[in-house]
Amino acid sequence: MSRVAIVTGGSRGIGEAISLALKAEGVKVAANYAGNDERAKAFTERTGIPAYKWDVSDYDACQKGCARVAEELGPVDIVVNNAGITRDGTILKMTYEMWKEVIDTNLGGCFNMAKAVFPSMRERKFGRIVNIGSINGQAGQYGQVNYAAAKSGIHGFTKALAQEGARFGVTVNAIAPGYIDTDMVAAVPAEVLEKIVAKIPVGRLGQASEIARGVAFLCGDDAGFITGSTLSLNGGQHMY
Ligand code: CAA
Repeated sequence: MSRVAIVTGGSRGIGEAISLALKAEGVKVAANYAGNDERAKAFTERTGIPAYKWDVSDYDACQKGCARVAEELGPVDIVVNNAGITRDGTILKMTYEMWKEVIDTNLGGCFNMAKAVFPSMRERKFGRIVNIGSINGQAGQYGQVNYAAAKSGIHGFTKALAQEGARFGVTVNAIAPGYIDTDMVAAVPAEVLEKIVAKIPVGRLGQASEIARGVAFLCGDDAGFITGSTLSLNGGQHMY
């Protein structure tokens, strides 16, 4: 019996690599996306993985979206909370909207998705929830009070929900990626990024597939003893 997974933000960047890695493990994957219809369509054509549009910051949309996936693919066994956005700026320039959008999407999305799938996982005594945190949630980052707070919140959320899921076979773990070669990181000003890369001991950005490999590991049926943990995949930039 193949497992069913939802990967939020699953049609681009790290999410795309995660969708592909889970598919390669024989999982039936639904790739959620919020905005870019064209990219999602191209992704489905290329990979054969269906894409489902909803905004993870919208509680009701998560309830409906997850119910639709369960109806079409089967009960959801795995959720990867990967959807995330940046609205960088020093606190002097950061507006309330920049703060709220990032908190609602990156952290609120984890709550909304867990609310939608946790009851059924608990009932069926199996679940794998993997939340994508960040090195910047562990170490902080200049110009990212919104993003660092949301990602740091994800690490706390993970440890709390792991305690609630443990006796029902539902594991909850986090991955804290460092700087990965994606559109999000490409948006960092070149001179700033250059200084960041200079501080990565392995001397390069990470690849999305290197994060996906960790996710697939944590989602395995044989990973039931790993819960409440954080896997830091950052090329040695922050040893935490
Ligand atoms: N520490 C201390 N001071 C710093 C600093 C730092 N890390 N970075 C900048 N400053 C200083 C500058 O030297 C400058 O000082 P002066 O005014 O005295 O010259 C001052 O702060 C203003 O800096 P900027 O000119 O850079 O300010 P800005 O408003 O134009 O830009 C910023 C600020 C938007 C935060 C920009 O620096 C930036 O984009 N930084 C990168 C943020 C980043 O790493 N984002 C990660 C995105 S990817 C991601 O988040 C994925 C993941 O999980 C890892």
